[in-house]
Parts: sequence; structure tokens; C-alpha cells
Amino acid sequence: MSAPNIETIVSLAKRRGFVFPSSEIYGGLGSAWDYGPLGVELCNNVKQAWWRWMVYERDDMEGIDSSIILNRSVWKYSGHEDTFSDPLVDCRNCKSRLRYDKLEASETATSVSGTAASSTQRGGLKCPNCGSTDLTEPRPFNLMFRTTIGATAEDDDPTALAYLRPETAQGIFINFLSVLTTSRRKLPFGIAQIGKSFRNEVTPGNFIFRTREFEQMEMEYFVRPGEDEQIHQEWIDSCFTWFANLGVSQENLRLYEQPKEELAHYAKRTVDILYRFFPERDDEEKQWDELMGIANRTDFDLRAHSKKPEDAEGKRLNPDSTEDLSYFDEATKERFYPYVIEPAAGVNRTVLAILMDAYSEKVTDKGEKRVILKLHPQLAPIKAAILPLARNKPEIVGMAKAVKRSLQPVLRAVYDDTGGIGKLYARQDEIGTPFCITVDHQSLEDEAVTVRDRDTWEQERIKVEDLHQYLQARLQAPAPKD
Ligand code: GAP
Repeated sequence: MSAPNIETIVSLAKRRGFVFPSSEIYGGLGSAWDYGPLGVELCNNVKQAWWRWMVYERDDMEGIDSSIILNRSVWKYSGHEDTFSDPLVDCRNCKSRLRYDKLEASETATSVSGTAASSTQRGGLKCPNCGSTDLTEPRPFNLMFRTTIGATAEDDDPTALAYLRPETAQGIFINFLSVLTTSRRKLPFGIAQIGKSFRNEVTPGNFIFRTREFEQMEMEYFVRPGEDEQIHQEWIDSCFTWFANLGVSQENLRLYEQPKEELAHYAKRTVDILYRFFPERDDEEKQWDELMGIANRTDFDLRAHSKKPEDAEGKRLNPDSTEDLSYFDEATKERFYPYVIEPAAGVNRTVLAILMDAYSEKVTDKGEKRVILKLHPQLAPIKAAILPLARNKPEIVGMAKAVKRSLQPVLRAVYDDTGGIGKLYARQDEIGTPFCITVDHQSLEDEAVTVRDRDTWEQERIKVEDLHQYLQARLQAPAPKD
């Protein structure tokens, strides 16, 4: 099973310290969330799993970490200054600001025709907050957060204007030449980056699904034109498999081919991986939303940031760039702009999908409901909890703490003696700890401990000297699913 809705995860996340509403002591900040002790571990594990898969396990990949604030020209030539906007409408009745493309038609309203009617009237659209159809005409709202650079800059000084990056991708394109020359790479190869991005979303919401500050895991894979279509398809397949290998049920994943009218200005083809984020919705089609996008960006970005390309009159298209980001192919003696395949995922949406998918409930013999988070062991915030069976016995406590210390250099282990064993097990099950290790009276004699499996609740007796190796082997194995 998976979580019945996002609300179930919001409540678990707050109760157990995965995610808290940000700035809560000052009344909060809309759609901003802070990651608590378990949340930061889960995010780090997701990012490490992605980096290991994307960079370490391949022969054709480099990583970078570029600045969040870049030269304004980057966003001018990437097209973001002109086109990175959502269509915004105001509700004249309740003053809500709404995304035009997400509005639904009123069930009662009949659409109004004629040139005097606004496009919202013509579509019979209604405000989701008050139901009014009295909406303004849509206008573009640029999603980039603005800031000014320098202590002396006035707020409205255009020469000091800068943006917080809305995607990590552009940091990769502008470093293409530096990475190419320093790493001596040949096509095809990729550059990966993980980092924060910022978008002044018109309608953020659904917990960590859509926020104004979020983290992305993006990779730009540079290929020869002509090889792009096949390599694009290979990345679509392998990204889908990556989520499945992390334990996400395939029945909650699906592919979505973006139609031509939805494609970004730079894309030749984009396929999204959708997750069933809204299983509670009656309409099956509305249960799904984007987890990741895999785009064929063609040579748009490298061309756009290059000094060389000219228009029909011989005028440079980019008079500000000092470099040409083309590639010289030694084999064919040809120079060209590589095409780019871009798998782009959100860390936060991945965390949400993983939490929803891992959520399960089990009823004990006594009829009590227990929540078990069946996280892939590699993603679990805590790998092992060491629990002494008698907290008033110094020898048992001492041995349990020694076991914890022996494990902690290589895996995240915790010690807990703040409750009865049943309660301690339940606490660890709910946060997804794959192994509970109990130290009892017998342990003092046979130097062995009991290892309890989170998913089966089965117990095994393991010698302390073998424990590390035993856990490492079990942590590599995929988590069983119902
Ligand atoms: N460079 C391409 C790009 O940024 P995108 O589809 O806009 O493409 C990629 O973003 C991924 O980033 C999305 O699939 C989603 O997982 C995540 N993402 C985008 N906007 C987000 C937001 N406001 N809040 C949380 N995650 C977001």
C-alpha cells in the first residue's frame, strides 16, 4: 500500500521530525518548509543515491557545483527573462491571484462569446476560492526572484539587478567549455549538478510538492546531433528504472509525453515521469503529477550562450558572450554545437513520492494499528536502532552503547532506552529504520544480539563481531514491498 493522501505524510512528517512548517514561531511563511533531523538525512540519502547512480557508477560523467546568483546575461540569453513566466489572473471578487492555465470551468457558468468578453469569460472559468467568474485577463508573471548586487546599489538600479537561479541547468551550460577542457572529455558525456533553485510560484502548495525554494538534481548529457533521439529514449527508460529500484511501486509511476503545445521553448521532445501524488482524487487522470522531466533541449542553450552565431544580416545573436561553446570532433574534423539530453528531478518531490510510497499500516495481534515506513534501506534516515532490554542494568546499557559506537563510523545508528521495547520498536518502524538491535541479559554471556527486521518483524541472533558485516549485506538488498 502507499499513503492514502499527502495529508497523512504531512502529519507523520511533523510528528516525527522529517519536515516542519518554516518560520513557525513567527506565524509561518506560506509554502516554506524546514527539514528536521530525519528529513535532512532522507534528503541527503536521496541526493547520495542519485549522485552514486548518475556520477560514480558511470564512465561518462562529471559533477559541478555552480553559483546560485549568476551574471544577469545568463538569464537573458537562456530566454528566462522573456519567457519564464506563468499566466496570472486576479479574481475581482475575493482578490485571489491565480494561475490561468490551472483554472477550471464553472459548472454553472456558460461561456460568454463575442469580442468584448475576456478570455476567462469566454472559457467560462471560475475562481477556485470563491467561485466567481469575474476574473481579469491573463498577464505574464515572471517567476524569477530578483535581487540587487552590491552594498551601494539602489533597489531599482537595472545594472545591479540579478536573479536567484530558477534551474541549476544554466550553471552547467555556462561551464561546458571549462569542464570539457579540464576533463578532456569526448562526446557523449554528461555534467551533473545538485542544488537549490528558486521560483516565485503563483500557486505553491501541496506540502513540499510545489514550493518557492526547492532543490533540483539535474544532468546535461551532451551528444552528437543525430544521436539525440535514441539517447533521449535510453535516459527516459533508465530514469524510470532508477525510481523503481529505489522501491517506488511501478503502479504509482507513469510516463507522460508532453504534447507540442506544452513543450518549453528549447525542447524538441520532453517526457515526464509522473507519480500518483493524489490517490484520493476520484478522477484517475487527476491523481498524477510531475516528479521528473527528461527533455531533449537540442543545441539551444550552447548556441544561445555562444558569441559566434549570427542572424541573416550577419549580426551576432549574443554580443555579450566571450566564448564559443561549440565542439570539435577529432574523428570527423567537424565543429558543431552538441545536443543536450536533460534528466531533471526535484529532490523534494522525490522525497515526497518516496515517503508516500513507503507508507504502510499493519495491525498487531492485539489489534493496534502500526505505521511502518518501508523505505529502501539505503534511503532510511537511521539504519539501526540499538535498544537495551533493561535500562536499569549498567552492563546491558554499557554493551548497547558500545555496539552503537562500533557501528556509527559507517552507518547512522541511534541508541534509545526511553520506553518499553514494544514502544521503541513501533517508534523505529514509523520512521523506517530497517533494523532494531536489542541487547539483553543473554548478550552479556554469548556476545550476541537480536536483530529485528522492520518489514517482517522476524528476529535473528547475530554475534556482535559479525554484526557490521551482516548489516552491510542486508542494507544493500532491496526493501521487500507488499
Ligand atoms: N532544467 C529543467 C527544469 O528545471 P522543470 O520541469 O521546471 O525542468 C525539474 O523542473 C524538476 O524540478 C520538476 O520535475 C520537479 O521535480 C522540480 N520542481 C520544479 N519546480 C518545483 C517547485 N516549485 N517545487 C518543488 N519542485 C519543483
